[in-house]
Amino acid sequence: MHTSHSTPLRIALIGAGIMGRQHVGTMKRVPDVELVAVVDPFTRSLADEEGVAAFTDARTMLSVVKPDAALIVNPNDLHVPTALDCIAAGVPALLEKPVATSLDDARRLIAALRDSPTPILVGHHRRHNPVIARAKEVIDSGALGRPSLATALWQTKKPDAYYDMTWRREAGAGVILINLVHETDLLRHLYGEVVEVQAFTSNALRGFAVEDTATINFRFESGALASIVGSDAVASPWGWEKNLNEVPKFAKEYDQPCLLLSGTEGALSIPQLKLWRYDERADWEAPLSQQQIGYQADDPQVLQLRHFVRVARGEVAPLISVADAARTIAVVDAIHQAARERRAVTPTYP
Ligand SMILES: NC(=O)c1ccc[n+]([C@@H]2O[C@H](COP(=O)([O-])OP(=O)(O)OC[C@H]3O[C@@H](n4cnc5c(N)ncnc54)[C@H](O)[C@@H]3O)[C@@H](O)[C@H]2O)c1
Repeated sequence: MHTSHSTPLRIALIGAGIMGRQHVGTMKRVPDVELVAVVDPFTRSLADEEGVAAFTDARTMLSVVKPDAALIVNPNDLHVPTALDCIAAGVPALLEKPVATSLDDARRLIAALRDSPTPILVGHHRRHNPVIARAKEVIDSGALGRPSLATALWQTKKPDAYYDMTWRREAGAGVILINLVHETDLLRHLYGEVVEVQAFTSNALRGFAVEDTATINFRFESGALASIVGSDAVASPWGWEKNLNEVPKFAKEYDQPCLLLSGTEGALSIPQLKLWRYDERADWEAPLSQQQIGYQADDPQVLQLRHFVRVARGEVAPLISVADAARTIAVVDAIHQAARERRAVTPTYP
């Protein structure tokens, strides 16, 4: 239940790019929050539009404004140093994914949090989506029998102009750390820990230093197997943004799934939440019946920010902690290593 506080949470935004703007839009739909400052060394237009103080440096802003909380939405390789600044200032932060660009990078944050009460929530927003919460309930109810396979599809064509921002072409970016980190996190959330990874990556379509396309195989502790087949440079109707309505600007293909789960007793398509099970006979010649699983759709960014307000006020622990998100990065490190060394890799966890 929502509790109203007399003073709104004073939030500073660090990084005023595409996603920073989206967070400011989300703030307008959440009660008890107030934007008090924007940090970006390259633009002050968002600060001016919102009529708040503009800063070029996060540390200066933290000491001058002393916000109650911060949203860290700058390029990936700045996530850890910026979060360390927030922790040093005692300012709770919502830190965009990926939590870090490598496990070594994440370890610095894990170490700093060991001696600090300042909470950090990592922005794996899809875990706040009611579709995922419901899918997890279906799996945990046993309706799939023994969860055995998962196929995640994330295939799209980003415009060339998206890569005018140099950080998106360089180490620390790439389709795996920018996009497939979401699929990796969801697979961990739904199927448990990953014990082995294989991967092919390719940069043939865009020709950047980082990959644009990847096929990734996972083995889970449970014995289940999964794959992610992804690219930011192909035409396809399969991908989270197109298959459900989180961000309206993307054209929709609502009848297409982007995550397919199957087990010994049933199968589930996401985001449609269609559950397929045999009626009488579990036999490849027999028909499967289809059941529509109901759920209450809601905006995961709004749900995430509402949760963050409670995290920042010390009312609840972060749903996605740095330690948890660092395990996803450990898997990402294993993916990169498997592709580089052309062999199966066991992730090293923090
Ligand atoms: N959760 C999601 O679904 C989602 C979606 C998109 C992006 N993101 C994440 O959000 C972050 C930003 O992505 P984007 O697409 O908005 O990138 P972007 O390049 O559009 O925006 C980044 C902004 O950070 C600014 N910046 C650079 N150095 C800075 C510094 N030292 N301090 C403060 N700001 C600085 C840049 O000037 C730019 O305006 C990335 O980490 C990305 O992975 C998450």
